[in-house]
Amino acid sequence: MKKALLKILHSSALALCAIAVSFHARAAQTAAELAPAPQMGFNNWNSTHCRAEFNEAMIRGVADKFIELGLKDAGYTYVNIDDCWAYWQRDEDGKLRPNPERFPSGIKALADYIHGKGLKFGLYSSAGSWTCEPKQANHGFPGGLGHEKQDAMLYASWGVDYLKYDNCNNEKIDAKQRYSAMGEALRATGRSIFYSLCEWGENKAWLWAGEPPVDGNSWRTTGDIEDKYASMLKLFKQNVVLDAYAKPGHWNDPDMLEVGNGGMTDVEYRSHFSLWAIMAAPLLIGTDLRTVKPEALEILLNKEVIAVDQDALGVQGKRIRATGGVHVIVKPLKDGSRAVAVFNETNSAKEASVTPAELGLDAIKKYTVRDLWAHADANGDGAIRVKLAPHATAIYRISAL
Ligand code: GLA
Repeated sequence: MKKALLKILHSSALALCAIAVSFHARAAQTAAELAPAPQMGFNNWNSTHCRAEFNEAMIRGVADKFIELGLKDAGYTYVNIDDCWAYWQRDEDGKLRPNPERFPSGIKALADYIHGKGLKFGLYSSAGSWTCEPKQANHGFPGGLGHEKQDAMLYASWGVDYLKYDNCNNEKIDAKQRYSAMGEALRATGRSIFYSLCEWGENKAWLWAGEPPVDGNSWRTTGDIEDKYASMLKLFKQNVVLDAYAKPGHWNDPDMLEVGNGGMTDVEYRSHFSLWAIMAAPLLIGTDLRTVKPEALEILLNKEVIAVDQDALGVQGKRIRATGGVHVIVKPLKDGSRAVAVFNETNSAKEASVTPAELGLDAIKKYTVRDLWAHADANGDGAIRVKLAPHATAIYRISAL
Protein backbone atom coordinates (compact mmCIF):
# COMPACT_ATOMS: atom_id res chain seq x y z
CA MET A 1 0.00 0.00 0.00
CA LYS A 2 2.71 2.40 1.06
CA LYS A 3 4.79 1.32 -1.95
CA ALA A 4 1.90 1.93 -4.35
CA LEU A 5 1.33 5.41 -2.92
CA LEU A 6 5.01 6.20 -3.26
CA LYS A 7 4.91 5.03 -6.88
CA ILE A 8 1.94 7.28 -7.65
CA LEU A 9 3.64 10.22 -5.95
CA HIS A 10 6.83 9.52 -7.84
CA SER A 11 5.18 9.32 -11.25
CA SER A 12 3.08 12.44 -10.67
CA ALA A 13 6.20 14.31 -9.59
CA LEU A 14 7.87 13.21 -12.82
CA ALA A 15 4.86 14.33 -14.83
CA LEU A 16 4.93 17.73 -13.13
CA CYS A 17 8.62 18.06 -13.90
CA ALA A 18 7.98 17.20 -17.54
CA ILE A 19 5.24 19.86 -17.72
CA ALA A 20 7.53 22.40 -16.09
CA VAL A 21 10.37 21.60 -18.47
CA SER A 22 8.21 21.74 -21.58
CA PHE A 23 6.61 25.00 -20.37
CA HIS A 24 10.04 26.46 -19.82
CA ALA A 25 11.28 25.28 -23.20
CA ARG A 26 8.28 26.84 -24.89
CA ALA A 27 8.42 30.10 -22.97
CA ALA A 28 12.07 31.04 -23.30
CA GLN A 29 13.72 31.16 -26.69
CA THR A 30 17.40 30.56 -27.27
CA ALA A 31 19.55 33.58 -28.10
CA ALA A 32 19.58 32.66 -31.79
CA GLU A 33 15.77 32.36 -31.82
CA LEU A 34 15.34 35.63 -29.96
CA ALA A 35 17.79 37.60 -32.08
CA PRO A 36 18.31 35.80 -35.40
CA ALA A 37 19.02 39.24 -36.87
CA PRO A 38 19.98 42.51 -35.16
CA GLN A 39 17.16 44.21 -33.28
CA MET A 40 15.08 46.86 -35.06
CA GLY A 41 12.93 49.41 -33.32
CA PHE A 42 12.91 52.75 -31.55
CA ASN A 43 14.44 54.23 -28.42
CA ASN A 44 13.61 57.71 -27.17
CA TRP A 45 17.04 58.65 -25.76
CA ASN A 46 18.63 60.36 -28.77
CA SER A 47 15.63 62.61 -29.31
CA THR A 48 14.51 63.43 -25.76
CA HIS A 49 17.23 62.52 -23.28
CA CYS A 50 15.67 63.06 -19.87
CA ARG A 51 13.41 65.97 -20.85
CA ALA A 52 9.79 66.07 -19.69
CA GLU A 53 8.47 65.39 -23.20
CA PHE A 54 9.56 61.77 -22.58
CA ASN A 55 6.35 60.32 -21.19
CA GLU A 56 3.67 57.75 -21.92
CA ALA A 57 1.80 59.95 -24.39
CA MET A 58 4.94 60.29 -26.47
CA ILE A 59 5.70 56.58 -26.45
CA ARG A 60 2.13 55.64 -27.35
CA GLY A 61 2.28 58.16 -30.16
CA VAL A 62 5.49 56.65 -31.43
CA ALA A 63 3.96 53.15 -31.33
CA ASP A 64 1.02 54.47 -33.38
CA LYS A 65 3.50 55.81 -35.94
CA PHE A 66 5.13 52.39 -36.32
CA ILE A 67 1.87 51.29 -37.94
CA GLU A 68 0.87 54.51 -39.73
CA LEU A 69 4.25 55.11 -41.35
CA GLY A 70 4.87 51.51 -42.39
CA LEU A 71 7.75 51.00 -39.97
CA LYS A 72 6.29 47.84 -38.52
CA ASP A 73 5.89 46.43 -42.02
CA ALA A 74 9.53 47.30 -42.71
CA GLY A 75 10.62 45.18 -39.73
CA TYR A 76 10.84 47.67 -36.85
CA THR A 77 9.53 45.80 -33.82
CA TYR A 78 10.77 47.11 -30.47
CA VAL A 79 9.47 50.27 -28.84
CA ASN A 80 12.02 50.88 -26.10
CA ILE A 81 12.14 53.42 -23.33
CA ASP A 82 15.44 54.62 -21.91
CA ASP A 83 16.63 56.19 -18.68
CA CYS A 84 14.39 58.48 -16.57
CA TRP A 85 11.27 56.30 -16.68
CA ALA A 86 11.65 55.27 -13.01
CA TYR A 87 10.72 56.94 -9.79
CA TRP A 88 13.77 57.94 -7.75
CA GLN A 89 13.04 55.43 -4.98
CA ARG A 90 11.98 51.79 -4.86
CA ASP A 91 8.74 51.11 -2.96
CA GLU A 92 8.61 49.60 0.54
CA ASP A 93 8.96 46.09 -0.95
CA GLY A 94 12.04 47.13 -2.87
CA LYS A 95 10.16 47.18 -6.18
CA LEU A 96 10.94 49.63 -8.94
CA ARG A 97 8.07 51.87 -9.93
CA PRO A 98 7.61 54.39 -12.70
CA ASN A 99 7.73 58.14 -12.36
CA PRO A 100 4.02 58.91 -11.83
CA GLU A 101 4.17 62.15 -13.77
CA ARG A 102 5.68 60.63 -16.88
CA PHE A 103 3.91 57.26 -16.72
CA PRO A 104 0.68 57.74 -14.74
CA SER A 105 -0.89 54.58 -16.22
CA GLY A 106 2.10 52.45 -15.26
CA ILE A 107 4.52 50.38 -17.28
CA LYS A 108 2.29 47.33 -17.68
CA ALA A 109 -0.40 49.44 -19.33
CA LEU A 110 2.16 50.87 -21.73
CA ALA A 111 3.50 47.40 -22.56
CA ASP A 112 -0.09 46.20 -23.14
CA TYR A 113 -0.74 49.11 -25.49
CA ILE A 114 2.40 48.34 -27.49
CA HIS A 115 1.64 44.61 -27.58
CA GLY A 116 -1.86 45.46 -28.78
CA LYS A 117 -0.22 46.81 -31.94
CA GLY A 118 1.76 43.62 -32.48
CA LEU A 119 4.97 45.33 -31.33
CA LYS A 120 7.39 44.57 -28.51
CA PHE A 121 8.31 46.68 -25.51
CA GLY A 122 11.73 47.44 -24.06
CA LEU A 123 12.92 48.97 -20.83
CA TYR A 124 16.16 50.38 -19.45
CA SER A 125 18.17 49.88 -16.25
CA SER A 126 21.79 49.97 -15.16
CA ALA A 127 24.10 47.28 -13.75
CA GLY A 128 24.90 49.68 -10.97
CA SER A 129 23.39 51.15 -7.85
CA TRP A 130 21.96 54.06 -9.86
CA THR A 131 21.31 54.61 -13.55
CA CYS A 132 23.27 57.12 -15.62
CA GLU A 133 21.06 60.17 -15.40
CA PRO A 134 21.71 62.53 -13.74
CA LYS A 135 25.39 61.75 -13.77
CA GLN A 136 26.04 62.20 -10.06
CA ALA A 137 25.25 59.14 -7.93
CA ASN A 138 22.58 59.15 -5.20
CA HIS A 139 20.40 61.72 -6.94
CA GLY A 140 19.27 59.58 -9.83
CA PHE A 141 17.13 56.55 -10.42
CA PRO A 142 17.73 53.16 -8.77
CA GLY A 143 19.81 50.64 -10.76
CA GLY A 144 19.60 46.86 -10.78
CA LEU A 145 22.80 45.91 -8.96
CA GLY A 146 21.91 43.46 -6.15
CA HIS A 147 18.23 43.48 -7.24
CA GLU A 148 18.60 41.41 -10.40
CA LYS A 149 16.14 38.62 -9.56
CA GLN A 150 13.47 40.91 -8.18
CA ASP A 151 13.77 43.34 -11.08
CA ALA A 152 13.79 40.62 -13.74
CA MET A 153 10.61 39.09 -12.24
CA LEU A 154 8.98 42.50 -12.20
CA TYR A 155 9.94 43.15 -15.83
CA ALA A 156 8.51 39.78 -16.85
CA SER A 157 5.29 40.53 -14.96
CA TRP A 158 4.98 43.85 -16.79
CA GLY A 159 5.42 42.14 -20.16
CA VAL A 160 8.85 43.54 -20.92
CA ASP A 161 10.44 42.02 -24.05
CA TYR A 162 13.79 43.79 -24.02
CA LEU A 163 16.20 45.13 -21.43
CA LYS A 164 18.93 47.66 -22.13
CA TYR A 165 21.32 47.33 -19.21
CA ASP A 166 23.71 50.23 -18.69
CA ASN A 167 26.98 50.49 -16.77
CA CYS A 168 26.80 53.59 -14.57
CA ASN A 169 27.50 53.59 -10.83
CA ASN A 170 28.75 50.01 -10.98
CA GLU A 171 30.65 50.20 -7.68
CA LYS A 172 33.70 48.83 -9.56
CA ILE A 173 32.29 45.30 -9.40
CA ASP A 174 33.52 43.02 -12.18
CA ALA A 175 31.48 43.60 -15.34
CA LYS A 176 31.10 39.95 -16.28
CA GLN A 177 29.77 39.20 -12.81
CA ARG A 178 27.23 42.05 -12.95
CA TYR A 179 26.03 41.26 -16.47
CA SER A 180 25.87 37.52 -15.73
CA ALA A 181 23.65 38.14 -12.71
CA MET A 182 21.06 39.95 -14.82
CA GLY A 183 21.37 37.54 -17.76
CA GLU A 184 20.64 34.61 -15.48
CA ALA A 185 17.83 36.45 -13.73
CA LEU A 186 16.15 37.31 -17.04
CA ARG A 187 16.31 33.72 -18.27
CA ALA A 188 15.05 32.40 -14.93
CA THR A 189 11.80 34.32 -15.46
CA GLY A 190 10.89 31.93 -18.30
CA ARG A 191 9.96 34.93 -20.47
CA SER A 192 11.96 35.65 -23.61
CA ILE A 193 13.61 38.99 -22.93
CA PHE A 194 16.13 40.43 -25.38
CA TYR A 195 19.24 41.31 -23.38
CA SER A 196 21.10 44.40 -24.60
CA LEU A 197 24.31 45.16 -22.70
CA CYS A 198 25.46 48.74 -22.57
CA GLU A 199 28.96 48.75 -21.06
CA TRP A 200 30.31 50.97 -23.89
CA GLY A 201 33.06 48.49 -24.78
CA GLU A 202 34.92 49.39 -21.58
CA ASN A 203 35.40 45.73 -20.69
CA LYS A 204 35.41 44.42 -24.26
CA ALA A 205 32.05 42.74 -23.84
CA TRP A 206 32.42 41.11 -27.28
CA LEU A 207 34.95 38.74 -25.70
CA TRP A 208 32.63 37.37 -23.03
CA ALA A 209 29.04 38.54 -23.43
CA GLY A 210 28.04 36.33 -26.35
CA GLU A 211 27.91 33.12 -24.34
CA PRO A 212 26.53 31.91 -21.00
CA PRO A 213 26.42 32.89 -18.24
CA VAL A 214 25.86 36.37 -19.75
CA ASP A 215 24.37 35.26 -23.08
CA GLY A 216 23.66 38.84 -24.17
CA ASN A 217 21.92 39.43 -27.47
CA SER A 218 23.88 42.61 -28.18
CA TRP A 219 26.56 44.66 -26.52
CA ARG A 220 27.61 48.22 -27.03
CA THR A 221 31.07 48.50 -28.55
CA THR A 222 31.40 52.26 -28.16
CA GLY A 223 30.60 55.29 -26.05
CA ASP A 224 27.47 57.33 -26.75
CA ILE A 225 26.68 58.56 -30.23
CA GLU A 226 26.14 62.27 -30.82
CA ASP A 227 24.19 63.71 -33.71
CA LYS A 228 27.36 64.78 -35.51
CA TYR A 229 29.25 63.32 -38.45
CA ALA A 230 32.52 63.12 -36.44
CA SER A 231 30.82 61.05 -33.75
CA MET A 232 29.19 58.66 -36.23
CA LEU A 233 32.55 58.26 -38.02
CA LYS A 234 34.37 57.49 -34.78
CA LEU A 235 31.86 54.83 -33.73
CA PHE A 236 31.91 53.26 -37.20
CA LYS A 237 35.70 52.91 -36.99
CA GLN A 238 35.54 51.34 -33.54
CA ASN A 239 32.86 48.85 -34.53
CA VAL A 240 33.93 47.85 -38.03
CA VAL A 241 36.97 45.93 -36.80
CA LEU A 242 34.89 43.71 -34.50
CA ASP A 243 33.15 41.72 -37.23
CA ALA A 244 34.52 38.38 -36.00
CA TYR A 245 32.41 38.59 -32.81
CA ALA A 246 28.95 39.09 -34.31
CA LYS A 247 26.72 36.10 -34.96
CA PRO A 248 23.03 35.19 -34.87
CA GLY A 249 21.81 35.77 -31.34
CA HIS A 250 24.72 38.06 -30.48
CA TRP A 251 25.44 41.40 -32.16
CA ASN A 252 27.90 44.28 -31.91
CA ASP A 253 26.09 47.53 -31.10
CA PRO A 254 27.76 50.83 -32.10
CA ASP A 255 24.78 52.71 -30.54
CA MET A 256 21.43 53.92 -31.79
CA LEU A 257 20.58 55.83 -34.94
CA GLU A 258 20.58 59.61 -35.15
CA VAL A 259 18.89 59.70 -38.58
CA GLY A 260 16.37 62.55 -38.59
CA ASN A 261 17.67 64.47 -35.58
CA GLY A 262 19.08 67.34 -37.66
CA GLY A 263 22.77 67.33 -36.83
CA MET A 264 23.95 65.64 -40.04
CA THR A 265 23.15 66.11 -43.72
CA ASP A 266 21.00 63.59 -45.56
CA VAL A 267 24.15 62.31 -47.30
CA GLU A 268 25.69 61.67 -43.87
CA TYR A 269 22.53 60.06 -42.54
CA ARG A 270 22.47 57.76 -45.57
CA SER A 271 26.07 56.82 -44.73
CA HIS A 272 25.12 56.25 -41.09
CA PHE A 273 22.27 53.94 -42.10
CA SER A 274 24.26 52.09 -44.79
CA LEU A 275 27.25 51.55 -42.51
CA TRP A 276 25.12 50.32 -39.63
CA ALA A 277 23.35 47.93 -42.02
CA ILE A 278 26.53 46.49 -43.54
CA MET A 279 27.90 46.06 -39.98
CA ALA A 280 24.76 44.10 -38.98
CA ALA A 281 24.20 46.66 -36.23
CA PRO A 282 20.95 47.19 -34.34
CA LEU A 283 18.66 49.59 -36.20
CA LEU A 284 17.10 51.51 -33.34
CA ILE A 285 15.52 54.71 -34.55
CA GLY A 286 16.45 57.64 -32.34
CA THR A 287 14.26 60.37 -33.74
CA ASP A 288 10.76 61.37 -32.64
CA LEU A 289 8.61 59.56 -35.19
CA ARG A 290 5.65 61.84 -34.50
CA THR A 291 7.47 64.67 -36.26
CA VAL A 292 9.90 62.84 -38.55
CA LYS A 293 10.63 64.54 -41.89
CA PRO A 294 9.99 62.69 -45.18
CA GLU A 295 13.69 62.67 -46.11
CA ALA A 296 14.62 60.89 -42.86
CA LEU A 297 11.71 58.49 -43.15
CA GLU A 298 12.79 57.56 -46.66
CA ILE A 299 16.20 56.57 -45.29
CA LEU A 300 14.74 54.58 -42.39
CA LEU A 301 12.35 52.80 -44.74
CA ASN A 302 14.86 51.72 -47.38
CA LYS A 303 13.91 48.06 -47.39
CA GLU A 304 16.84 47.00 -49.57
CA VAL A 305 19.32 48.42 -47.08
CA ILE A 306 17.34 46.95 -44.17
CA ALA A 307 17.53 43.55 -45.88
CA VAL A 308 21.33 43.78 -45.82
CA ASP A 309 21.25 44.38 -42.06
CA GLN A 310 18.70 41.65 -41.40
CA ASP A 311 20.09 39.00 -43.74
CA ALA A 312 19.60 35.48 -42.43
CA LEU A 313 23.24 34.44 -42.83
CA GLY A 314 23.92 36.70 -39.85
CA VAL A 315 27.42 37.87 -40.75
CA GLN A 316 28.76 41.33 -39.98
CA GLY A 317 30.42 42.92 -43.01
CA LYS A 318 34.19 42.81 -43.17
CA ARG A 319 36.26 45.81 -44.18
CA ILE A 320 38.53 44.74 -47.01
CA ARG A 321 40.13 48.10 -47.65
CA ALA A 322 40.56 51.53 -46.04
CA THR A 323 42.92 53.65 -48.08
CA GLY A 324 42.84 57.37 -48.83
CA GLY A 325 39.75 57.75 -46.65
CA VAL A 326 37.71 55.29 -48.72
CA HIS A 327 36.40 52.24 -46.87
CA VAL A 328 35.14 49.12 -48.64
CA ILE A 329 33.08 46.69 -46.55
CA VAL A 330 31.74 43.37 -47.84
CA LYS A 331 28.94 41.32 -46.26
CA PRO A 332 28.10 37.83 -47.56
CA LEU A 333 24.36 37.17 -47.80
CA LYS A 334 22.26 34.06 -47.42
CA ASP A 335 21.29 33.75 -51.09
CA GLY A 336 24.93 33.67 -52.18
CA SER A 337 25.01 37.33 -53.17
CA ARG A 338 27.07 39.93 -51.30
CA ALA A 339 26.50 43.46 -50.13
CA VAL A 340 29.26 45.99 -50.64
CA ALA A 341 29.46 49.45 -49.08
CA VAL A 342 31.91 52.06 -50.34
CA PHE A 343 32.25 55.00 -47.94
CA ASN A 344 34.13 58.24 -48.51
CA GLU A 345 34.97 59.62 -45.08
CA THR A 346 36.87 62.63 -46.47
CA ASN A 347 35.81 66.21 -47.11
CA SER A 348 36.47 66.00 -50.86
CA ALA A 349 34.73 64.07 -53.61
CA LYS A 350 36.38 60.79 -54.51
CA GLU A 351 36.30 58.39 -57.41
CA ALA A 352 36.42 54.87 -56.09
CA SER A 353 36.54 51.49 -57.71
CA VAL A 354 36.43 47.93 -56.44
CA THR A 355 37.57 45.10 -58.69
CA PRO A 356 35.78 41.75 -59.10
CA ALA A 357 38.94 40.03 -57.81
CA GLU A 358 38.84 42.06 -54.56
CA LEU A 359 35.26 40.92 -54.09
CA GLY A 360 36.18 37.31 -54.78
CA LEU A 361 33.92 37.17 -57.84
CA ASP A 362 34.21 34.53 -60.52
CA ALA A 363 35.92 35.97 -63.63
CA ILE A 364 33.87 33.89 -66.06
CA LYS A 365 30.47 34.79 -64.56
CA LYS A 366 28.24 37.81 -65.10
CA TYR A 367 26.78 39.75 -62.21
CA THR A 368 24.05 42.22 -61.42
CA VAL A 369 25.25 45.14 -59.35
CA ARG A 370 22.24 46.74 -57.71
CA ASP A 371 22.61 50.22 -56.22
CA LEU A 372 20.49 50.14 -53.04
CA TRP A 373 19.96 53.90 -52.85
CA ALA A 374 19.31 54.50 -56.56
CA HIS A 375 17.34 51.20 -56.76
CA ALA A 376 18.95 50.57 -60.15
CA ASP A 377 20.72 47.55 -61.68
CA ALA A 378 23.82 47.33 -63.86
CA ASN A 379 24.99 44.05 -65.41
CA GLY A 380 28.63 43.19 -66.00
CA ASP A 381 31.66 41.63 -64.37
CA GLY A 382 30.67 42.87 -60.89
CA ALA A 383 33.16 45.72 -60.74
CA ILE A 384 32.15 48.88 -58.88
CA ARG A 385 33.09 52.33 -60.12
CA VAL A 386 31.55 55.23 -58.28
CA LYS A 387 31.90 58.97 -57.68
CA LEU A 388 31.30 59.69 -54.04
CA ALA A 389 30.45 63.09 -52.60
CA PRO A 390 32.22 64.01 -49.33
CA HIS A 391 30.95 61.76 -46.49
CA ALA A 392 28.83 59.69 -48.90
CA THR A 393 28.32 55.92 -49.01
CA ALA A 394 27.21 53.82 -51.94
CA ILE A 395 25.83 50.41 -51.07
CA TYR A 396 25.24 47.57 -53.51
CA ARG A 397 23.99 44.04 -53.71
CA ILE A 398 25.95 41.94 -56.17
CA SER A 399 24.41 38.70 -57.39
CA ALA A 400 25.39 36.24 -60.09
CA LEU A 401 23.24 36.41 -63.21
C1 GLA B 1 24.32 56.02 -21.03
C2 GLA B 1 24.00 55.17 -22.25
C3 GLA B 1 23.05 55.93 -23.17
C4 GLA B 1 21.79 56.31 -22.42
C5 GLA B 1 22.14 57.09 -21.15
C6 GLA B 1 20.94 57.30 -20.25
O1 GLA B 1 25.07 57.14 -21.37
O2 GLA B 1 25.17 54.81 -22.94
O3 GLA B 1 22.73 55.17 -24.31
O4 GLA B 1 21.08 55.14 -22.09
O5 GLA B 1 23.12 56.42 -20.39
O6 GLA B 1 21.25 57.99 -19.10
